[in-house]
Amino acid sequence: MNIIITGGAGFIGSHVVRLFVNKYPQYKIINLDKLTYAGNLANLKDIEDKPNYKFVKMDICDFDGVYKLMQDEHVDGIIHLAAESHVDRSIKDPFTFAQTNVMGTLSLLQAAKLYWESLPEKWEGKRFYHISTDEVYGALEMTHPEGIKPPFTTKASSGEHHLAYGEKFFTEDLKYQPHSPYSAAKASSDHFVRAFHDTYGLPTIVTNCSNNYGPYQFPEKLIPLFINNIRHRKPLPVYGKGENVRDWLYVEDHARAIDLIFHKGKVAETYNIGGFNEWKNIDIIKVVINTVDRLLGRPEGQDMDLITYVTDRAGHDMRYAIDSSKLQRELGWEPSLQFEEGIEKTVKWYLENQEWMDNVTSGDYQKYYDDMYKGR
Ligand code: NAD
Ligand code: TYD
Repeated sequence: MNIIITGGAGFIGSHVVRLFVNKYPQYKIINLDKLTYAGNLANLKDIEDKPNYKFVKMDICDFDGVYKLMQDEHVDGIIHLAAESHVDRSIKDPFTFAQTNVMGTLSLLQAAKLYWESLPEKWEGKRFYHISTDEVYGALEMTHPEGIKPPFTTKASSGEHHLAYGEKFFTEDLKYQPHSPYSAAKASSDHFVRAFHDTYGLPTIVTNCSNNYGPYQFPEKLIPLFINNIRHRKPLPVYGKGENVRDWLYVEDHARAIDLIFHKGKVAETYNIGGFNEWKNIDIIKVVINTVDRLLGRPEGQDMDLITYVTDRAGHDMRYAIDSSKLQRELGWEPSLQFEEGIEKTVKWYLENQEWMDNVTSGDYQKYYDDMYKGR
């Protein structure tokens, strides 16, 4: 197969590109990425010289460019991850989110439709796989702030911390109720993908995944930002009371799910991906502080005083919790890592890759971050 992976220079995309390039030497993997602030070719240094890998710098909104690339490369599959992905940025600049996430997705859909329709075999052996988020479902109520036993145990959630903060979970049939400009734009793109299946027969699949963590995540997202701040003893800006709940999945487990679903998933289906691994922000922050302190040889917990409660994010969703039992039941996917192991690996990686961190946060970027958080 010849496959375009969009957003392959970003956090999750780089793990997907690496997995596909290494696992499928017989495929041609084309990483299509605009290289925004979040895209970094240093994320792919280890595979950039492989013969089955090619990088193309392109904006997904460039319909003519995408259409020509599909023809030139005889593309059979698209795995679409390119997006503006940070909720805080979407609050400041919603237009860019609508442009990339909605119009960009539409441009890819239309290019795929026109190219595949023109082939004698049409949709046969073709796949348009759209990667989305659990945030499209809105927010769940926190009916059990003290925590209850979750309905399933997975490897990710089988460690010490093993609680759910409500009875309800995001299931595939739930109504979309996005609250942030980010999730509204992602929801809109999901609708377009399904519309292209229902209207034209395009062989689409959509997956909605919970929060990812792991190496190569851009350090304005919670976990890498806080690891870097703890290392440099800078304040840790905790929004509101730090009680919002997120359901965390190690990024390589997401990449494995994407591989499985791309090959074995049913066309027109939606699969939710998550590890039944809910954490209140403040609890995860404490784990991160203890882990960084220990790995740096500081007394464990010494940096708790960096925790700084700041003004809450506007429209901050209270709780996300994914029910991924359909994926486990139908395709046999399960997270491979216990959360405690995943966090240990993640913290170690950031501490050992300070140069990467310094490169991606240098110069203009630091100014942007400071401006974005001015007044908090
Ligand atoms: P990211 O911000 O780290 O990377 C996004 C990538 O897309 C970057 O390489 C960027 O250069 C590229 N990009 C942005 N605009 C582009 C454009 N117009 N044309 C071409 N490339 C462009 O994002 P991520 O965290 O890796 O997320 C990847 C996908 O997974 C997104 O669609 C996101 O909605 C989804 N997702 C993310 C999470 C998470 O926790 N990070 C969870 C569920 C779903
Ligand atoms: P984030 O990594 O931005 O992911 P998302 O908003 O897509 O879930 O944030 C994770 C949680 O951490 C979210 O509840 C907001 C909170 N948060 C902070 O408290 N402080 C921060 O500086 C950041 C970036 C996030």
